Amino acid sequence: MRTHWREVALLATLAGVLGCAPTTDPPSLADHRLDDPPPALSHRPGAAGIGDPDFPTDGNGGYDVSHYGLVVDYVPATKQLKGVTTIKAAATQGLSRFNLDLAGLKVSGVRVDGAAAEFSRNGDELTVTPAEPIDVRSRFTVKVTYAGVPQAEKDSANLGTYGFVPTPDGAFVASEPDGSKTWFPNNDHPADKATYDFKITVPAGVTALANGELVGKPTTAGGKTTYHWRERHPMASYLATATMGKFDLREGRTPGGIPETAAVDPRFKSALDKLYTVSGEVTDYWSKVFGPYPFSSTGGIVDDFAAGYALENQTKPLYGGFAPDASIIAHELAHQWFGDSLTIRRWKDLWLNEGFATYAEWLWSEHKGKRTAKAIFDELHAQPATSPIWAYPPGRALPHDLFNMSVYTRGAMTLQALRDAIGDTTFFKLLQDWTAAHRYGHVTTDEFIALAERLSGKDLSKLFDAWLFQPTRPA
Ligand code: TRP
Ligand code: ZN
Repeated sequence: MRTHWREVALLATLAGVLGCAPTTDPPSLADHRLDDPPPALSHRPGAAGIGDPDFPTDGNGGYDVSHYGLVVDYVPATKQLKGVTTIKAAATQGLSRFNLDLAGLKVSGVRVDGAAAEFSRNGDELTVTPAEPIDVRSRFTVKVTYAGVPQAEKDSANLGTYGFVPTPDGAFVASEPDGSKTWFPNNDHPADKATYDFKITVPAGVTALANGELVGKPTTAGGKTTYHWRERHPMASYLATATMGKFDLREGRTPGGIPETAAVDPRFKSALDKLYTVSGEVTDYWSKVFGPYPFSSTGGIVDDFAAGYALENQTKPLYGGFAPDASIIAHELAHQWFGDSLTIRRWKDLWLNEGFATYAEWLWSEHKGKRTAKAIFDELHAQPATSPIWAYPPGRALPHDLFNMSVYTRGAMTLQALRDAIGDTTFFKLLQDWTAAHRYGHVTTDEFIALAERLSGKDLSKLFDAWLFQPTRPA
């Protein structure tokens, strides 16, 4: 296909605007005549990162994924995973080659639109060179066949162990911020969301749980069971799960009618009913406060890996080795709106997830007639001026300390300060308008501030600057 030189220039401008400018300069087109054959270099390598300055090699440039078809066979006894990932994508530039993110595991073959492609590995980058270059805006399909023993990320500072974590009876899969590359090749950054099919094969007797809903009944043959799960709403890679093991299940609907699945490792059998009941009640309540529930089912999983944290995996938050109380269930389910349906484009905006989910814990306390959000805020605001929370503005999340307590606590305090400034009516309308305007999409801090100002008719720049960006205690 021919790409007109004016399109090349336009795309270069667009790429610059979108923050994914090519790493190599485009060829000079100065002496190219309009009726010459198209310039060969209108196809160029996709960038090795999606353009998040804090995570320069996470995600990739040059394409946008619409769907992942994951076929996974996992044997807990040997920790061996065999996978075939089929990716449907559209090229956002002419591509001579492109990258996927994949950590460890051995790739045995890559096909692009059915034809064998060349590939190479360098760190967590899998570079694919298709037999034919891919034209800008065209759709293409990539199929990657791979196998091996997945290695979880055991990372820096406060990220703990994440990604695909083997357990005695299966695996615990929680991948924020960039651990989905430990179990399937993908564009591992929340700026590129896609829908998913999961076909997971495990030894008979093992349950495989993924996002969304089951498609048909699991099938068993030759001592193995295959589960087909489908997430039909766009999802960030880090929210994808294939959590496997022995589980006790409770399935049904919330009082408000949303399909629900709760699952607990047998060690947490006594936590099943509370997980099911509270998750249903919380999902229904947030549907009133934040706007309609964005997905087709809700629930939660308690597994036996002592992660010490929970993750808001889309439709099925995952609790790592503890029986969750109502407060953390309220937190993870609030993320279904703030983080999962509305997803950040850049990790520095993480307070839009964690500040909101923490504020939801305070709202749950208030709803239950316990301490009000304002009372919790007041106690925190009384912390001495020397407390690290004031030195650490939540609007400036740092890669080596992404999930610091300021992003959670001071992020939530920002919302209480906003509520005080604009009043309850406008504040709760703002939350609903925010989730409606960006449902299934992406968000930035600037967009939130703009909407808050528009709805309230107030200049809120001083308030947000003091709460999100200054390393001192706001007045
Ligand atoms: N987003 C999680 C929460 O606050 C916490 C978290 C951070 C996490 N990094 C993680 C969970 C890695 C699992 C894996 O609810
Ligand atoms: Zn959270």
